[in-house]
Amino acid sequence: MPEKIPENIKQEIETLVRDINYHNYRYYVLDSPVISDEEYDRSYRRLKELEEKYHYVLPDSPTLRVGAPPLEKFEKVKHSEPMLSLDNAFSYDEVREFDKRLKRLLGTEEDIEYTVEPKYDGLAMELTYSTGVLLRASTRGDGYEGEDVTRNIRTIKAIPLKIEVPGKIPEEIDIRGEVYMDLDEFEKLNKQREQKGEPLFANPRNAAAGAVRQLDPTITASRKLHLACYGIGIVKGIHFRRQSEFVKWLQEARFPTPATMTIARGIDKVIDAVREIEEGRNSFPFESDGAVIKVNDFGLQQKLGVKTREPRWAIAYKFQAHQGTTKIKEILGSVGRTGVITPFAVFEPVRIGGVTVSRSTLHNWDEIERKDIRAGDTVVVERAGDVIPHVIMVVKEKRTGKEKKPPIPEKCPACGSKVVREEGEVAVRCVSLHCPAQVQEKIIHFASRGGMDIEGLGEKNVELLYSRGLIKHFQDIYTLNKEELLKLPRFAEKSAQNLINAINRSKHTTLSKFLFALGILHVGEYAAKLLAKDFEKLEDLFGVEIDKIKSIKQIGEKIASSVTTFFNDEKNIKTLKTLKRLELEISNPDFKSSKEAKGAFKDLSFVITGTLPKPRKEVEKFIESQGGRVSSALSASTDYLLAGEEPGSKLQKAKTLGVKTISYDELVRMIEEKAKHPRLF
Ligand code: IVH
Repeated sequence: MPEKIPENIKQEIETLVRDINYHNYRYYVLDSPVISDEEYDRSYRRLKELEEKYHYVLPDSPTLRVGAPPLEKFEKVKHSEPMLSLDNAFSYDEVREFDKRLKRLLGTEEDIEYTVEPKYDGLAMELTYSTGVLLRASTRGDGYEGEDVTRNIRTIKAIPLKIEVPGKIPEEIDIRGEVYMDLDEFEKLNKQREQKGEPLFANPRNAAAGAVRQLDPTITASRKLHLACYGIGIVKGIHFRRQSEFVKWLQEARFPTPATMTIARGIDKVIDAVREIEEGRNSFPFESDGAVIKVNDFGLQQKLGVKTREPRWAIAYKFQAHQGTTKIKEILGSVGRTGVITPFAVFEPVRIGGVTVSRSTLHNWDEIERKDIRAGDTVVVERAGDVIPHVIMVVKEKRTGKEKKPPIPEKCPACGSKVVREEGEVAVRCVSLHCPAQVQEKIIHFASRGGMDIEGLGEKNVELLYSRGLIKHFQDIYTLNKEELLKLPRFAEKSAQNLINAINRSKHTTLSKFLFALGILHVGEYAAKLLAKDFEKLEDLFGVEIDKIKSIKQIGEKIASSVTTFFNDEKNIKTLKTLKRLELEISNPDFKSSKEAKGAFKDLSFVITGTLPKPRKEVEKFIESQGGRVSSALSASTDYLLAGEEPGSKLQKAKTLGVKTISYDELVRMIEEKAKHPRLF
């Protein structure tokens, strides 16, 4: 026994325990704290100090939640009453059958009153309270015997260590609920694990189970678990008549309960409530795999009783699953329109959420490596909502040793050309001009406003012309004739003539526009202009060496490498020569002007953010006409950030980088100033 503790200290400890427990409840159960974190921490530290000094620790002290040393193993615990599972219904019809069955068993025609709650996808837990104090927490185990996980469960701050409720405290009560992990927390945890190269959890349920089964409670504490209490085992010293009455009591006693509970009389109202849960399911912060329907009246529950492992008085309506397990037959690559080769897995077909899934993207080759996905692997596949399916993890236990790592492709699966993978890039690309998978997109880009500017050759018409075999490559645009166009559904005399005119007009272009139109990887309008400044004619770029491109100011390794690859590809050169033969007339006004570039913004770089009073393209042209450069990436070498309305995050970034921010008016003023004081710049 500790030596005599001064009465005022005893009282202070009691008050601190009561207050901290209340604030835990406000924070962890109601999600509505009434004091600041600092105040909370101060009280907690004071309590800990007093407890240590006077060796006086109340059984419900919040300090008991942490600090227990790791265990060797968990002790077995017998449940006073078996922890049952639930029968499932997979359709509303099956829910109606359940209601009919109960009416028959009870010999009644009258509507039955039910409660409807979300079903939490976690793990079942029993909390045993003796004279109101938490004695033990145990897992469900086989339903009769579970494991003692008290020290871990104590770390869940939403669980009362002591029942405090107006009225009678039950001498003994087993409260049952589901321990779960919020989706946010689950994602955070998996991200951390991924970074550390640790195996991922397939779903929040596995993550919660993993956290509960830790022998070291400090690990459980770090995983931020929650609890939703929904059931009762043995109870002595208090009597409940209904589930809804019991849940109300739980709430008064500060236990966390399911997010919603509807009392519904008659099966139609039950189905309405189930539908509401199903519709709201994607906005719950937790994973819910169904709705649980229970007969509200405990007397009726008793009458209905239990069949082997499930009560007759409850049923779980199960939502369509998000996940399934299947085997990867092979891993292949598909070429997107921009030439990126994306790996995908071909599965043994599996039904998930009502659809048969037989393939899924694997995103990129780095991801395959990181997740160690191999052909022949058994994998967990997820298809949440109407989102495309993706592989969550490999079930490594199922490996036989025959699984094969997919090699990163060296050749494009669509055209067989050698692929390119740049340093620091995850994407593997096919850069061939002739790759059929990319052709349509390339044609659209070629004809776009910034490129050859062919009005009337947008996505829809390109698709039509391509599907009819009239254009297979962009050079075919220049051999199109009116008669062919008139045979197509979308063209009449006038529209066909307009297109032919637009095509003819585009034959007179500038080198910078033409280079942009070619859709060379990383070569946007600005890079195309830089190239045009250094290369007088298109032919000067044929067979160019990388060092020559790299020597151009502002052109980096990435652009240089893709430009060089492009102009050293024989097929590409052949196409360009064909194009030139089709009366293409490419002038280069940029070439000479580069030697004498001047203007108010000579050598100054700008980044634009937010909404400006003029169209952004126009402002960009204006800056360029004054010798300035506009780029999209803000860096320390940017001279000005031109910020319009609602500038977003770039504003802060500019501040951090020390880049000067100016408004549109200031930009205009800079030009005016320059006109007045030419030497200022
Ligand atoms: S009531 C007699 N209500 O689902 C069993 N269970 O698949 C009474 N579960 O073992 C259970 N949310 O672990 C009930 N709102 C909820 C639930 C719920 C999740 C779990 C529980 C049960 C399992 C059955």
